[in-house]
Amino acid sequence: MRARKIKDRIYWMGSVDWDRRLFDALIPLPDGTSYNAYLIEGSEKTVLLDSVDSPMADELLAQLEGVSKIDYVISHHAEQDHSGTIPQILEKYPEARLISTPKAKGLLMDLLPIPEESFITVKDGETLSLGDKTLKFIHAPWVHWPETMVTYLEEDRILFSCDFFGSHIAATDLFVTDEGRVCEAAKRYYAEIMMPFRKVIGKNLEKLASYDIEMIAPSHGQIFQRPALIIDAYREWTLGPVRNTVVLPYVSMHASTKQMVDYLVSSLVEKGVGVEQFNLGVTDIGKLAMALVDAATIVIGTPTILAGPHPYAAYGAMVHSWQMPFVPKQNFFP
Ligand code: FEO
Repeated sequence: MRARKIKDRIYWMGSVDWDRRLFDALIPLPDGTSYNAYLIEGSEKTVLLDSVDSPMADELLAQLEGVSKIDYVISHHAEQDHSGTIPQILEKYPEARLISTPKAKGLLMDLLPIPEESFITVKDGETLSLGDKTLKFIHAPWVHWPETMVTYLEEDRILFSCDFFGSHIAATDLFVTDEGRVCEAAKRYYAEIMMPFRKVIGKNLEKLASYDIEMIAPSHGQIFQRPALIIDAYREWTLGPVRNTVVLPYVSMHASTKQMVDYLVSSLVEKGVGVEQFNLGVTDIGKLAMALVDAATIVIGTPTILAGPHPYAAYGAMVHSWQMPFVPKQNFFP
């Protein structure tokens, strides 16, 4: 796909990945995804925000063919679905400097062949003038790794949020058209990778509350022209109360555990408690993760194999513990 104009001298670039069905060899992507990069041409400087997953490098490089100069590349997040093509970009534009948080600099140098002299690190709240446009860098840790930041384009009131507020959707519509579909995909995305850091994410939401945001341009999925849609949804997911419902993942080999599940579900329903049950032999773990966003209780049902839980139940429990909310320790890395 060619570059697409968002506003005056602001362009979407990147790749729509219609075929991808699994992320991190773990997370189901029923609707594909996109890797969004953005180009901003100021009156004096031109900047590229993020890149694309390296298998999509040719697409981004083709979109940049008519761009003679890039002064800065901004890396919001070191994960390779956004940083993977940065080495090729720096090769094409050797004069460009790479802007990141100090923590991202270390990660990027560990993950990719980028020389230290390419970097400029920015403090929280620091600004960069492109001439008639001004970028403000806002450190926003844990959306989704500890090094992440977002960028606010002051004159156009656009927040470039990278993974934050993103959703795994492949679409030709640049902007959100079906709010229900996007909210469901965004909730799945939040549940799968961000829920463990919900307290920190709540702080990041508070940090953004004072900004006048006209548009949110994430690095996955579509652009929000009504930012309140996704900001309010995140408030509910991170700060809202949980519901008195039970999530019940289970495995049953000969229908015995299933009988216990049925008995428990009936009893809970009689007491007015809702249940979402998931047969771990066939379930989509993204759906299971979404159910965990709102539920107060988890019960896992499993038979025993070799004196331990069924491997699917052990796997489900590990995924649960990984997705359950906790306050991350400093230096923890997922
Ligand atoms: Fe889309 Fe955490 O990378």
